[in-house]
Amino acid sequence: MTTPATGSPSGQRSLGVGVVGIGWMGHAHTRAHVRLPHHFPDLPTRSRLVAVADPEPGRARAAARQYGFARATQRWQDLTEAPEIQAVSITTPNYLHREIGVAAAGAGKHLWIEKPVGLLAQDARQVGAAAARAGVQCAVGFNYRNAPAVAAARDLLEGGQLGTVTHARVRLLSDYAAHPQGALSWRFERERGGSGVLGDLASHGVDLARYLLGDIDAVVADTAVFIPRRPQPTGAGSHFELAVGGEPGPVQNEDYLGCLLRLASGARVTLEASRVSVAEQCAYGFEVHATKGALFWDFRRMGELGVSVGDQYQNQSVSTVFARPGHGEFAAFAPGAGIALSYDDLKVIEAARFVRSIADARPYGATIDDAVNSALALDAMAESVRTGGWVEVAR
Ligand SMILES: NC(=O)c1ccc[n+]([C@@H]2O[C@H](COP(=O)([O-])OP(=O)(O)OC[C@H]3O[C@@H](n4cnc5c(N)ncnc54)[C@H](O)[C@@H]3O)[C@@H](O)[C@H]2O)c1
Repeated sequence: MTTPATGSPSGQRSLGVGVVGIGWMGHAHTRAHVRLPHHFPDLPTRSRLVAVADPEPGRARAAARQYGFARATQRWQDLTEAPEIQAVSITTPNYLHREIGVAAAGAGKHLWIEKPVGLLAQDARQVGAAAARAGVQCAVGFNYRNAPAVAAARDLLEGGQLGTVTHARVRLLSDYAAHPQGALSWRFERERGGSGVLGDLASHGVDLARYLLGDIDAVVADTAVFIPRRPQPTGAGSHFELAVGGEPGPVQNEDYLGCLLRLASGARVTLEASRVSVAEQCAYGFEVHATKGALFWDFRRMGELGVSVGDQYQNQSVSTVFARPGHGEFAAFAPGAGIALSYDDLKVIEAARFVRSIADARPYGATIDDAVNSALALDAMAESVRTGGWVEVAR
């Protein structure tokens, strides 16, 4: 049971928020709710931090002190059962997304849930079905599509000036697990993480490809494990931490993905993702080639979009367009082009869309359907690795 949002001194109604899992993403979701009134003062509701849950001793209490949650608990069920919570962030390891998502939706809570939403597409589908049954909104953490320059890229593609997209490259290369002493966290286990770099990074790449270029028809993929054993962590640490001297254990999922995608439009895409690329730090981005132009974007220069457009075909130059008011939600953060936004700002945009979708009872931004479609493409990639051939992506 959920009680309706109540009034607040700002005149906005208040939206009771709970956060389940207060690691990196739990903090990012919480900060985003806190910052909403700074950037989106006209939202119909103001987020009120009701409760935070995390089983690691002291974590939830520390977050309650830091952000002002009214309550801290080690049990996520305390949040799904709380009538004064209307919206729940699910920012736990992947294996818990389905159980918590289905329970929270069943209790009438709106969900803001992290990608990849479970271990397999069937998990995301179950969360989607529970949300649909309950009539609640379900936003998903595909934050890279929220970058204003990515919104500008989509506008340009939809405007048609570039002609027809022929092919694209999407890459998500990282070194977060490149150190052989990197801790064997839940991310490297089938049971708690599911797939490896597929769910962790390629899920974002699939979402970017779908957001910019449309549906995926078929994939052929190859994966590899380059660091087969890692030390067990000595305490609860993040996937960025080393566990030098820890007892070695097996890595159960892939470090690397190379994949070709055939899109429904006829365009071809190469998608590469790695968590073990020395010297690549958040090298996330895309290059889109079309019959009359091209687009280039790199997350590390998030506000810059490389644009080549014209009718020269050969020797056509590329300009840098700086994100500016009018591109996505840029204007909520800065008044003029070239002022840098951050990763956390992408989460503020996601939170604003989620909160607005609750107020308007219609989705804005990435939804559980996007997560299901991304997961179906990832499942098809895993199947392709098993069979060695092209696999059609279910829809
Ligand atoms: N959108 C993005 O860019 C992005 C980035 C990082 C992670 N993620 C996703 O966010 C999720 C969390 O990743 P993270 O990096 O924050 O992980 P993390 O390990 O930093 O945090 C996970 C937290 O969940 C807690 N937890 C474990 N079991 C729990 C339970 N039963 N109830 C409540 N809390 C529990 C852990 O104690 C930990 O504090 C994953 O699904 C991951 O794929 C998304």
